Amino acid sequence: MTWIFGYGSIIWKPDFDYLEKKPALLRGFKRRFWQGSTDHRGVPGSPGRVVTLLPEPREQLWGMAFRLAPEVYEPVLAALDYREKNGYERHFLQVEFDDGRSVSALTYMATAENPHFLGAAPVDEMALQILRSVGPSGSNLEYLERLYQALSELGFEDAHLSELWSSVERVRSRQ
Ligand code: BEZ
Repeated sequence: MTWIFGYGSIIWKPDFDYLEKKPALLRGFKRRFWQGSTDHRGVPGSPGRVVTLLPEPREQLWGMAFRLAPEVYEPVLAALDYREKNGYERHFLQVEFDDGRSVSALTYMATAENPHFLGAAPVDEMALQILRSVGPSGSNLEYLERLYQALSELGFEDAHLSELWSSVERVRSRQ
């Protein structure tokens, strides 16, 4: 088993070597900017907002699956464990390619029980938080923008992201 499924920054910044990458569909989950980031896109006391996955039987989302060479799999996972240490845990999920084939892929998920989980908020509130937050990896706005752009370039519509992006543009135009 050497597939990794990315649905957030791993899509546009995998930072590891891979043999191939393929767009992949995850059914039964939704992607939401509901996880707090105090180590990448925010700081303790002023967290940014980054994506996590929540189970939702009627929803689905597109991300990118990366196939790794067996010999790099464990070192890559060790590096990702460190990079995603702020509340994320490893999970194996079944993802589907557009040819109908499906594989089990490792993904990082931050559940509602982790201490950095922020949960839902009104969209303009989330947009303001994203506009104001900055952390060691850069601005929270850059994170949202790169994910939004990457998914748009792949031709994937994500209603939550589009709503958040529109709100960011609205709030910015008023500033
Ligand atoms: C991802 O791109 O899949 C991802 C990145 C950071 C944390 C969790 C998931």
